Amino acid sequence: MMLRVLRLGRAQRVSQYFKNIAPGIFLQELINRPGAIGAICPSSRYLARQMARQIPDSKDGLIVELGGGTGVITRALLDHGVAPEKLKVIEFSAPFVRRLRQRFPDVEVIHGNAADLCDLLPRNTKICAIVSSLPLCSLPEPITQSILEQWRTLLHDGGVAIQFTYNLRLPKWRRLVDAQQTSSQFVWANLPPANITTFSFHSIKLTPPSHECT
Ligand SMILES: C[S@@+](CC[C@H](N)C(=O)[O-])C[C@H]1O[C@@H](n2cnc3c(N)ncnc32)[C@H](O)[C@@H]1O
Repeated sequence: MMLRVLRLGRAQRVSQYFKNIAPGIFLQELINRPGAIGAICPSSRYLARQMARQIPDSKDGLIVELGGGTGVITRALLDHGVAPEKLKVIEFSAPFVRRLRQRFPDVEVIHGNAADLCDLLPRNTKICAIVSSLPLCSLPEPITQSILEQWRTLLHDGGVAIQFTYNLRLPKWRRLVDAQQTSSQFVWANLPPANITTFSFHSIKLTPPSHECT
């Protein structure tokens, strides 16, 4: 009897996991836009939890998640104590946006391109952290460049950018980040293993003609 209850509990957890990661949508998006997905499956909850732990303790300002996908990192951010009204999720793919809005009705999910981040957020918003799972290695370089430019503009006053990558050597986009690396750590419990890096743009002087947030 006990064994049956345990098995039932495990089966329910497994079915909930698959419901949450929505493998059908993920696979379809991966086939349709492999470069924009840049991963063979959603992040593990270990990676998601480690990403959330990089958020500064003060949590003063908005937390902006880039590339919400099926919501693994969104879930981890909320579980970490981020208030839903302080979290903005930016996602490019319409099927993922629908899924995220369904799964997190209290969180604002913005259907847009992270390369236009300044225009997607309210003016003069204080940002505590940008939490990104964008596939910077597989996006076209001009897009990556303009995404990093947005981070630089939005975080020059404080706050951190948190990004993971599967490229455990120095990925190409790292040379484009004009910021101070504040931490780096590996997460082995992910397929494939990933490296989380945090950046601070605070001490970096803005040089014209940088993108202006208006
Ligand atoms: C590697 S998946 C990460 C999904 C999820 N956060 C996770 O960790 O499993 C990358 C996500 O970034 C989104 N994405 C790619 N380019 C984007 C862009 N320019 N603006 C916003 N989202 C983008 C993709 O649609 C996809 O959902």
